Amino acid sequence: MTTFSLIQSMDLTAANTFGLSASSRLGAIITSPDELTAAYDYARAHGLPVHVLGGGSNVILSPQFDGLTLLMAIKGKTLIGQDGENNIVEAAAGETWHDFVVWTLDNDLPGLENLALIPGTVGASPVQNIGAYGLELADRFDSLTAFDTQTRALCTFSAAECRFAYRQSVFKAEPGRYIVTSVRFALPAQWAPILNYAGLNTLPPDRSPRAVMDQVIALRQSKLPDPKKIGNVGSFFHNPVVTADVHATVRAANPTAPAYPQPDGSIKLSAGWLIEQCGLKGAREGQVGVSDRHALVLVNHGGGTRAEIEALAARIKATVFERFGIGLTAEPVFY
Ligand code: EPU
Repeated sequence: MTTFSLIQSMDLTAANTFGLSASSRLGAIITSPDELTAAYDYARAHGLPVHVLGGGSNVILSPQFDGLTLLMAIKGKTLIGQDGENNIVEAAAGETWHDFVVWTLDNDLPGLENLALIPGTVGASPVQNIGAYGLELADRFDSLTAFDTQTRALCTFSAAECRFAYRQSVFKAEPGRYIVTSVRFALPAQWAPILNYAGLNTLPPDRSPRAVMDQVIALRQSKLPDPKKIGNVGSFFHNPVVTADVHATVRAANPTAPAYPQPDGSIKLSAGWLIEQCGLKGAREGQVGVSDRHALVLVNHGGGTRAEIEALAARIKATVFERFGIGLTAEPVFY
């Protein structure tokens, strides 16, 4: 019988990139799918709620969780083979996302370079369909394996079954039901760079995958606060997707508002721009503030609390709604 090691009163302060002071009544570091099953069996037998953490880069934790927190640490990455026009690469859920991207380039398997330096783990990447600089995870996805907490079995998901959309998937829609254990990526054997994002389109013609990655890293570092230096969870709100009518109203009063037409005729607006227009860049509630570099990011100035995050987020939402009539939704998960 597979067992797992139980940790009493696990400190989670270093396990969330916002740097919130937090702990869990019980915890475990999960290094295999069998340990995951054993941990869920234990939780069920003892009537404990379960939280799963990857890199902790998209969660807002409570100071004290009266349950079992599982830290995903299943490791492994491998080239499975070629399928038609793609190289199929598999990585386990506990691999660090950026290290995995670097590994693919080291092994001449380009295709993920636009997603370099995104904090978090491979297992978290499909949950909110991570995206940046003209590419989404869904564009490079083959399939994944997840533990179904209801049936207690491992199951496979195709891209269609994941129901990917902008920062959305079935895993986000049914929180807690499925725990991703590994992900397969389809990386194009005939690689071509994706350079439509302003800031990448200035690269020289002999651009290599590594040159694209280096430029993406430079862009991220110039725009976004580094969670290793100042606690944050990246974008705090989704970019709102509105109807053409709502966009026309915003544009009439603000002709320079950034707007990105979507294939279905809707328009994606920039939450960072809306927040900055409300004069909230640099605004604070106690030790939590709006970054003065990028208005879409909330930062921890040191000792910030979940209550301060909630107060600042509520103020931002109310102010943006009052000024533009647009409701913002939070991107991170509140545990
Ligand atoms: N902008 C402002 N003020 C700000 C920030 C942005 O006016 O303080 C404007 C910019 O000038 C630009 C527009 O807003 O015209 C868009 O800004 P940016 O290119 O920085 O991208 P974003 O829409 O704010 C999204 C993702 C990021 C991703 C970037 C790059 C979401 C919620 N965020 O941000 O993802 O890195 O595009 O592709 O979709 C994350 O999810 O954590 C994240 C960092």
